[in-house]
Amino acid sequence: MSVKLSPSLLSADFASLGAAARACADAGAEYLHFDVMDGQFVPNLTFGVPVVEAVRWHTSAVLDVHLMMVQPERLIEPLAAAGAGIITVQVEACTHAQRILAQVRAAGVRAGLALNPATPLSSLEYLLDDVDLLLIMSVNPGFGGQSFIPSALRKVHDAATLLRKAGCRAEIEVDGGIGPSNVRALADAGCTVVVAGSSIFGHPQGVAGGVRALREALIAS
Ligand code: DX5
Ligand code: ZN
Repeated sequence: MSVKLSPSLLSADFASLGAAARACADAGAEYLHFDVMDGQFVPNLTFGVPVVEAVRWHTSAVLDVHLMMVQPERLIEPLAAAGAGIITVQVEACTHAQRILAQVRAAGVRAGLALNPATPLSSLEYLLDDVDLLLIMSVNPGFGGQSFIPSALRKVHDAATLLRKAGCRAEIEVDGGIGPSNVRALADAGCTVVVAGSSIFGHPQGVAGGVRALREALIAS
């Protein structure tokens, strides 16, 4: 199965987000990843609904919105109206996760559930009917440019087995510390969507070079 790429705008030049979004789409990235941070669930503050809406007009990619915030239910309908194609909430930030996932689907958006590195897959067990995407964090959320946490690879493998046994067709997205050196192992373990910030936006040949390097690593034998 081919792996989709979701470049994370967190590593882009915030003064030129439209150009960054266009560069990602031109390079063939299927998704575009927005890291919404609230300064509470994570220490950083990034951007919210108006930025997602503004960037929307610069890309045809699926807008893949990752909410690292408390009370994510407050932004679901506004993000749907702003053009989000996927909204992912952190399970650790949801008191009523099933209700929030249903709220996302009711808004006409695919529902994602993110798990921090320390959060076990068992938190997903009774939500399998409610998720379209499982996001496995391979760093602790909050910052770009961190190192990949090795246990995430086993978690991806275990998640793929769990979903397959349950007949669940949710995508498995992995986020944090991903580059050409580890992307192939993740794909082999069952990852279907790769989020990459610094390896794409920090590539010496620019966004096109970063996307190409990941694609080449994925097809290398
Ligand atoms: C981390 C974010 C990631 C981040 C990944 O809190 O959720 O999406 O942008 O950045 P890199 O690829 O640089 O680890
Ligand atoms: Zn993210």
